[in-house]
Amino acid sequence: MNKYMRKDLQFYKPYHSPIKPYEIKVDANESPYPHHEAFVEHMKQWMKNKDNITRYPDTDAVLLRRRIAKHYEIYNVHEENVICGVGSDQIIDIIIKVFVEPGETILAPTPSFSMYKLGGLLNHAYVHEYALDDAFHYDIPALLDLIEFEAPKLVFLCTPNNPTGGLLDRASIIQVLDKAKCPVVIDEVYAEFSGETMLDLFEKYPNMIILRSFSKAYGLAGLRTGYAIANKEMIDTLYIGKPPYNLSNYSQEASIFVLDHHEFYMDQVQAIKKEREIMKKHLETLPFVEKVYESETNFLLIKVDRTGIQKLLEEKLILIRDYPPTGNLAGCIRITIGTSEENQRILEKLREV
Ligand SMILES: Cc1ncc(COP(=O)(O)O)c(C=O)c1O
Repeated sequence: MNKYMRKDLQFYKPYHSPIKPYEIKVDANESPYPHHEAFVEHMKQWMKNKDNITRYPDTDAVLLRRRIAKHYEIYNVHEENVICGVGSDQIIDIIIKVFVEPGETILAPTPSFSMYKLGGLLNHAYVHEYALDDAFHYDIPALLDLIEFEAPKLVFLCTPNNPTGGLLDRASIIQVLDKAKCPVVIDEVYAEFSGETMLDLFEKYPNMIILRSFSKAYGLAGLRTGYAIANKEMIDTLYIGKPPYNLSNYSQEASIFVLDHHEFYMDQVQAIKKEREIMKKHLETLPFVEKVYESETNFLLIKVDRTGIQKLLEEKLILIRDYPPTGNLAGCIRITIGTSEENQRILEKLREV
């Protein structure tokens, strides 16, 4: 069948993430905590209205966008400044679709989130991956030179960065926004953990798109709600690439619920941050751990001098993330912060490695 396929995709391996049995799942930066006690009852009542299930959703997700805007009213965000997608993954795809023509250049950091590259490839773009330095910091002078040289059609910045966990400072982001003659995506999917955002500048920089998600701090990874905030003209443009009825009714309703209970979820964020620092200290005492990177997220990147840790933990039904033995993440593993009990269990098993 692949003789009929696009030539550039013939040797491409599809993205799979096989379901594995687990007792502790700390491989995908999801929330380990249960939802607010009123969540299930709320959704149950909501489902009693059959039209919520039998009818197509509001394609413009008006109520959710209004709720997001209200949440960020201190930044002067309005409904017209928000677009919702099936995860921020879909927004990444939409952004590339509307701004990048075949063969044009996207600048994306490496190591970073894999969807920038995948989205570029599937949309016929040329993805130039610019490397973070050896300590996994952005090399801003090099990036500014690259922007000058490549004249890209789109630039991605990820802060805090996945999988390295570190933040990019505001002054550097502003330098990139000033330099780039194209849209710049600031992926802030972990911003609830870092407390840092560029939202206050979205009106000043019409080329800035801020990406956010309900998958991490709000524990809705299974429902796939992501969104972007930008100035009206930018959002109107992104709408051109948005598939109709993309976000399910259920996801829209659940996302409104978690924003209505924001404080509850932010308490969970505080707990994760506390656990993260405890976990970091314990990990640093393990003999095979070379370095635990500073993190402003719900995960830790750990450099180890031992191979096979992921496999060993998998046998004990603990799922973590590891990386190929070559490349800039060689020797690294990534562990999402779990509940206190889960973290203790992980440490116990790691001590046996
Ligand atoms: C940096 C970053 N951006 C975007 C996403 C996508 O999030 P979602 O599609 O679940 O909103 C992830 C998921 O892990 C991520 O780490």
